[in-house]
Amino acid sequence: TVLIIDFGSQVTQLIARRVREAGVYSEIVPFQSAEEGFERLKPKAVILSGGPASTVETGSPRAPDVIWQSGLPVLGICYGEQTMCAQLGGRVEASDHREFGRAWLDIEKDNPLFDGVWKAGERHQVWMSHGDRVAALPEGFEVIGTSSGAPYAAIADVSRGYYAVQFHPEVVHTPDGAKLLANFVHNIAGLKGDWTMAAYKEQAIAAIRAQVGSGRVICGLSGGVDSSVAALLIHEAVGDQLTCILVDHGLMRKNEAAEVVSMFREHYNIPLVHVDASDTFISALEGEADPETKRKTIGKLFIEVFEAEAKKLGGADFLAQGTLYPDVIESVSFTGGPSVTIKSHHNVGGLPERMNMKLVEPLRELFKDEVRVLGRELGLPEHFIGRHPFPGPGLAIRCPGGVTREKIRILQDADAIYLDEIRKAGLYDAIWQAFAVLLPVQTVGVMGDGRTYEYVCALRAVTSVDGMTADFFHFDMDFLGNAATRIINEVRGINRVVYDVTSKPPGTIEWE
Ligand code: XMP
Repeated sequence: TVLIIDFGSQVTQLIARRVREAGVYSEIVPFQSAEEGFERLKPKAVILSGGPASTVETGSPRAPDVIWQSGLPVLGICYGEQTMCAQLGGRVEASDHREFGRAWLDIEKDNPLFDGVWKAGERHQVWMSHGDRVAALPEGFEVIGTSSGAPYAAIADVSRGYYAVQFHPEVVHTPDGAKLLANFVHNIAGLKGDWTMAAYKEQAIAAIRAQVGSGRVICGLSGGVDSSVAALLIHEAVGDQLTCILVDHGLMRKNEAAEVVSMFREHYNIPLVHVDASDTFISALEGEADPETKRKTIGKLFIEVFEAEAKKLGGADFLAQGTLYPDVIESVSFTGGPSVTIKSHHNVGGLPERMNMKLVEPLRELFKDEVRVLGRELGLPEHFIGRHPFPGPGLAIRCPGGVTREKIRILQDADAIYLDEIRKAGLYDAIWQAFAVLLPVQTVGVMGDGRTYEYVCALRAVTSVDGMTADFFHFDMDFLGNAATRIINEVRGINRVVYDVTSKPPGTIEWE
């Protein structure tokens, strides 16, 4: 294991990913609890991340002393370099030559970090983002790379296994960065790089068996990748001790509930309770136009239905959730202020306390793309694995204004045609998320010789990495024209289609 100490950089997660891509397991721990993390993980190497603080200021974050006493190899990145220098007897100063973005690194000396990648005398592109810089090296260190703004852009104390860089090797704008990180974990730390998803799967199955014993597990299925993979994994571990519950709120995409049910029952033979609660949900939402009330109503009903079903099964000892690593990593906060609630996201996070069950979260160490690899390892069909994200409250939040059965039916049909066109055009995988929205607005049209007065449908498609920011997808106008024609011709109730060209921010991906 490689321990990554997080000092609050926006890109710390990328360090973990690069290390895992090099076949070595890694975990991120915030600097405040780095010492505990060190004891728990017993790492073979340590990486110090970047961060927004300044070592020049008093009380700035530090790596705990155990790291330096352990004799393990350490790689410092950006703030990590500065704190390494400050803690080991060097000097850091605020610089008036700040560097942001692309920079050039002159390689001064061959060394194990650059082995097979960069040689002395060469110049390579790196990505910088720093204000402070190292002004004097601790004893034992030498300069191995320089840039115009950072005379100590890369330094090393080879005998102690300490390396540090002012630039960010974890980002793609440092094109060789992943190879440097691989050199650190393989050559310098001597780790083998044999961490694979197949091995992880076996390990996860053993862990589930150890945790669950002969207990009963229930798992809420949404049809999304995460809950599906969690369910398959737990089923491999404990077989029929697992029962899945699909609460169908009637707000899923067209045919989606049926697809999920058939996959779990026929393909995998996993016990599944399919609860059709659409009447309960839709009647509760009828006439309710406030987005937050809609979300809260759905969240509350979901819990009630889920609880009632769990009770019918005679209760359970464990509740399985498809929580992912990015949800688990404690974010390092320097401001400490409360963040504003933009939307109340609905998930089953509120369940465990009320239901008195223990949690099984077999994906909590994985990133989304790793979950997809695990899904393949478990034989999950490809079209399930690559699915666009779908929000818990479903189509209710794509139907501004009150929800009715009729509106959901219209929206499902339009959405299905839109996605069908996207698939046919070969664009599904290039888009992060695409969907139709049914607006509570009717407009006048003319079809045949008659006047129509029907709903407007908005189409949305975005590119994104993690859903936090997004850009609208730049379709070809012919594509949009075709999709609009098909929707208007084939869906009763829609006579006008518009395309949403808002990015996030300032928009959000969903309309509510
Ligand atoms: P927004 O609309 O906030 O959405 O830009 C970002 C991503 O999150 C999804 N989303 C949700 N997912 N429960 C979920 O499980 C929710 O309540 C929820 N609201 C939004 C949205 O589809 C997008 O992928």
